[in-house]
Formats: sequence, structure tokens, C-alpha cells
Amino acid sequence: MVDNTLINLIGHQTQLLVEMGSFAEILHWGQAIEGDLASFRQALHRPVPYGRLDTDIAMTLSPELGRGVFSSPGIEGHRNGLDWSPVFIIKEINTDKQAVKITSEDKQAGLQLITELSINNNDVIQTRHTLTNTKQDVYHVNRFANTLPLPARVNELMTYYGRWVNEFQTQRQSLIQGGYQQENRRGRTSHEHFPALVAGTAHFGELDGDVWGFHFAWSGNHRLRVDVKADGRRFMQAEVIYLPGEVMLSQGESITTPWLYGSYSNQGLNGMSQQFHAYVRNSILPSGFAKQPRPIHLNTWEGIYFDHDPKYIMDMATQSAEMGVERFIIDDGWFTGRNNDKGGLGDWFLDEKKYPDGLKPVVDHVNALGMEFGLWFEPEMINKQSHLYRQHPDWLLAIEGYEQPTGRNQYVIDLQNKDAFTYLFERLDYFLSQYNIAYIKWDMNREIVQPGHSGYAAAAKQVELYYQLLDMVREKHPKLEIESCAAGGGRIDFEVLKRTHRFWASDNNDALARQSIQRGMSYFFPPEVMGSHIGASYCHSTRRRHSVEFRGLTALFGHMGVELDPVKENKEEKQGFERYIQLHKTYRTLLHNGHTWRIPCDDKAQQVHAVISDDQSEALVLISQLAMPTYALSGMLRIPGLNDLALYRISVIDKPGNYNDIVNYQPPWTLHESQLSGVWCREIGLTMPILDPESAILIRLQRI
Ligand code: GLA
Repeated sequence: MVDNTLINLIGHQTQLLVEMGSFAEILHWGQAIEGDLASFRQALHRPVPYGRLDTDIAMTLSPELGRGVFSSPGIEGHRNGLDWSPVFIIKEINTDKQAVKITSEDKQAGLQLITELSINNNDVIQTRHTLTNTKQDVYHVNRFANTLPLPARVNELMTYYGRWVNEFQTQRQSLIQGGYQQENRRGRTSHEHFPALVAGTAHFGELDGDVWGFHFAWSGNHRLRVDVKADGRRFMQAEVIYLPGEVMLSQGESITTPWLYGSYSNQGLNGMSQQFHAYVRNSILPSGFAKQPRPIHLNTWEGIYFDHDPKYIMDMATQSAEMGVERFIIDDGWFTGRNNDKGGLGDWFLDEKKYPDGLKPVVDHVNALGMEFGLWFEPEMINKQSHLYRQHPDWLLAIEGYEQPTGRNQYVIDLQNKDAFTYLFERLDYFLSQYNIAYIKWDMNREIVQPGHSGYAAAAKQVELYYQLLDMVREKHPKLEIESCAAGGGRIDFEVLKRTHRFWASDNNDALARQSIQRGMSYFFPPEVMGSHIGASYCHSTRRRHSVEFRGLTALFGHMGVELDPVKENKEEKQGFERYIQLHKTYRTLLHNGHTWRIPCDDKAQQVHAVISDDQSEALVLISQLAMPTYALSGMLRIPGLNDLALYRISVIDKPGNYNDIVNYQPPWTLHESQLSGVWCREIGLTMPILDPESAILIRLQRI
């Protein structure tokens, strides 16, 4: 038993006060304040009203019913119906300034629980638990969650929803009584239920309010909840949804939860995002990678789909290089039997009918043009129409005796099948060793239904083995860069990002749709990990048309690429691609290292996005007109995040072709350079220009 003590973990501006005794409880997670810990404790201890249990009941880091917590418990399990209500007593605490590791035990139930909790200088906290069965019989774990408390002033949530081609949509809801729950049972991170949410004080905004953002780093089934307890306390809980029988621990066996990340800011959503972005750059992205410039892509998918002719592809590459592209990626359609989406998956051998001279001449051609070469794979998938399936019908992730529905005509390979796992590694390794491949796009185009291995539930294990396959590939090919794609943005989370370098945010390249997709993604991810491509003017997923200016400026604020067939594009369009590629190259260091700001607008029909360099010497601001202006005039552009006292030169660097033709005249500052201080820009601002719906204007600020 450990004596009562208050542990103080300090980040940069955030603090965690954790009460330790026989159990651990976070008493404060918020603004860091110095002072006397004994007085802090007195200030934070709660009264005990009549009509409830006679003592104060703590919301421990893993709430236990046996302790009198009536909320969703941290652990639910049993040993043949016994040991179902564990109460853990702390045995050991290891702590330093920013981290604590707590070992607790319930001897009677035969369980040990290790809790890790830490904070870092980017003010992101992370926590996870490990449960070990210390007794003889098997312990069945039904639920195993991470729990973090929220203060009673939290009464609003921002949560995510979405679908294929419409990822990362956000909505607001109040949190007064009851709670919120989101369940993802689709087997991958999913388009529908991005594993994150933000809780905050009433009407928290981009620039103000106290917010606590959460991200659960797991690429499979999950449950997130935020509850208001009957006594008004609030908490957030995140867990893997384990299928029945999926976790059975023999004596000595353990299970560890994924990491739950959280970040508090009293500067609203921008403050929270900037902390997450810094953390992703410093601690999530594969090391040594974060600061490298990101090459401009051309991805062949929407240009040629399954229609591969190496000569033609080489022409595409030549023209791509002329436009300034730096990495050329052959998407789906290059391997045996892959003429449409009905067959071929699993047969990771070059289609020699399409590529009679092999892939090497194409790779060499791309390299000779000074570009890197990339290739598409979808390793975890199989079509019944494939050699692989005919040879190994038992490799499906399925339960024998049932027919499960297909998704895009395909099934999933059971990664617990060792032969299948080895086959996939060998095939990837073959291509990566044989050709000069700098990058792969790793896709996953269907949801997982009835994941069975030898009859047992295998959803969580499948995710772990996917990570393992990625790790093995990276270990063997450490310079390889990987994009995580799952029919667009179906597998985007921090745990994947530890092993990959960027995400394909959406199959939707429509610039208008991308404005909200990219905005939603920006709350948790910095721009450089978000693949954003200029598509053809006729958008393949919405059948809408946009000017090259609007497409180019929308793609500018991510990791830019082009997704079309340059051979078929006219001169004017190509000049447009060239222009935005050049613009991206000029500003990518700023865009990929600076601070992202989502700037509130007076008119909801506009969206303003900015990136300001770390030293506040330079900024790019994009004003996008999403819909018809609500009023004849759209108010003011106020830019936060600059140095108050510094003077900035303000200039327009890109605007719609018809900019001056649609009004009597536009605001003078958009026509002639102005010089304004940071504080002016923040407090008073500049008059908004008048724009047609689905157009944008790009502004640059340079410190004088
Ligand atoms: C998914 C991806 C696309 C493309 C196709 C290829 O839909 O999201 O970008 O790679 O697969 O089949």
C-alpha cells in the first residue's frame, strides 16, 4: 500500500494533478499553476452529500464497481463467472516529472493492472493500461477501457461523422445530462467514426474556450463515450470493442490497451490543434522524417484507372516531370488479373500482359526524369477471382459455414494465418527489393465483417498483425515512405502514423468537398500528413466542375499532388497545375512547419485557413468562398497568431481570374500592398473581398 501523495506532472502550460493512495485519481487536468500541493489537495477534495454512499467515491483511472463507482467500468471480465468485480490496490508507483507508472493488484481476483500516464512539452497527455492474469484459470476480458476525467464546466462536444468521399465532418452537441457514445464496428478506423472528439466549455470556439481534445490511437473497432454522472462529474472513456471471446488470458498473459491521447487548451480549438500538430511532428511521425520536404505527387488512379500501358504511363511521367512533379505513383491495375475491381487482389505479381518488358523500364524512366517512383498495394485483401484464392480458399478472415457480404467484390485475408502473413511480406519485399521504389500507397478498401480465425473472433488481432506487417516491411526497407489509404480516409489515426508518412484523406478530390474534409482533419493532424491532390476539372466523385485556381489553392494546404492524366489535359490547365505546384514548392517549408490557424469568419459562407511560421515572420492566409455570400459585404478578415508589435507587408498572391470583373471594385488592400501591425490584423482586420461561390484568394504576410 502506498501512502497518500499528490503527484504533479507538468507539461508546457498544462498540468496533471494525480492523487495517489490505494488508488489513483486525476484531480486536475488543465492550466498549470504553481503553488502548495497540500493546499491544492484541500481545494480539490469533494464534499459528501446525504442520500448516496457514505464516503467520497473517486473516478479512478479505471473505474471499479466494487469501489462504488456506478459509471461505465474500466474493466469487465470474469473467470468462469467469478472474479468479475476487481478492486485494484496500488502496490508500486514509478514517477518522474512528466510520467507516472502505477502498478496495482487485486490478489483475490488474480489480476494485475499497470497504468501509464504522462504529459509532454507539447501538452499532450497519453495513457494506457496493461492487465495481467496472475491466477490459474483463464480470465475472459469483455471490456478494457481508458478513462480520463473532465471538469464539470464541460458542457458541449464536437464529434465526428462521415462516410466514403465525405470524411471528417464535425457536429456540435450539448452535454448537460446523459452522454454521448460512438461505436465503430467496421474493423478499420473507419470513415464514419474517426476515433476522436473534443469536449469543452459552452460555445467553445476556434479562438476561445477551454477544450479537451481526445484521440484514441487504434485502427479497428472502438467505443468512445463521454458521460455526465448523476452527480455532475464528467469523464471520457475510450476502448477497443472486443468481440465475444476475443480476449482470453491464460495465467501470466497480458493485454494492453491502445494509447488514448488528450490535449487541453484554454485557447480554443486552434490551441488544441497546435499542440497535437507539434506532438505529431515530434513524437508520432517516424523519426528523422518530420522536417524533410515532401515531394509533389502524381498518382495515376483518376487518370487511367485500370487501363495500364507502360508507354502511355511513361508519357504521363514525362509530362508530370515537366509540370514539376517529384514523385510518380502507379496506382491500382498493375498486377495479374487486375483489369477491374472484380479480380486480382492477392496476386501480387506484375501483369506481364500489360507490362511485357517488366516494370523496370518504367521505374528507370521515372527516375531518369528526376522523380521518385511509387506503387500501390492492398496487401490485406483478396478477390475470389484470383489465383491466390483458388490455391488458398482457407486464407479468408471469415467463419466457415457462413457467407459474408463482399465489399468492392473482395474479402479480407486472415493475417493470423502464418502462411498468408509470410506470403504478403514476401511479395511486398520482392517488389521493394527488386525495384527502386521510394513510396507505397497501402490501401484497404473494405470493411471487416465476421472476422474469424479458426472460428474465434479475430478483429483486434487482425489490426495488431497489420501493424506488425507494416513494421516488418519498414524494418527491411527503412527509407520507404508509406501512405495509409482505406478507400480514401478510412484508416487515419496516430497508431498508423507511427508507421506511415501520410494519409490519403479522401477519394473525393472535389475542392469544395475537400474544404470541409480537410478542415475536419486539421483538428488532429498537421497539413503535411494530409495528401491533397488537384483533380481534373470535372470531379469524378461529385460530377462538379471547379476552376484550376480553386482546386490548386485547396490542394496547396496539405501534402500536394496531382490526380489526373496530364497527357489529356489542355495547355491552360497544365499551366495551372504548374503554377500551383510551383507555389507549393515555394511555401511548403512554411506550410509544413508552421502553426495552422482556422480563422473564424463574420460570414459562414466563407472559410479562412492560415499557416503562420514559428517565428511569426511569414504567413499564408486562404480565404475560400464556400457558398453564396450571406450579405452583400462579408465583414472583416481578422488574423490571429502574428506578432502584435511587428509590421507586416500584406499582398495577394493568387486570386480568381474574374476577381475584378464581378464587382465595381474590390477592397484596396487586395489591389495594392499594405503594411499593418500584427495587433491591427488581429483586432481590427481587413475588409473581406467579394468572391464568387467556390473560389478562393491567397494572401501573404511578411514581417518587415
Ligand atoms: C481506393 C483508393 C483510391 C485508389 C483505389 C484503387 O479507392 O482510395 O485512391 O487507390 O482504391 O483501387
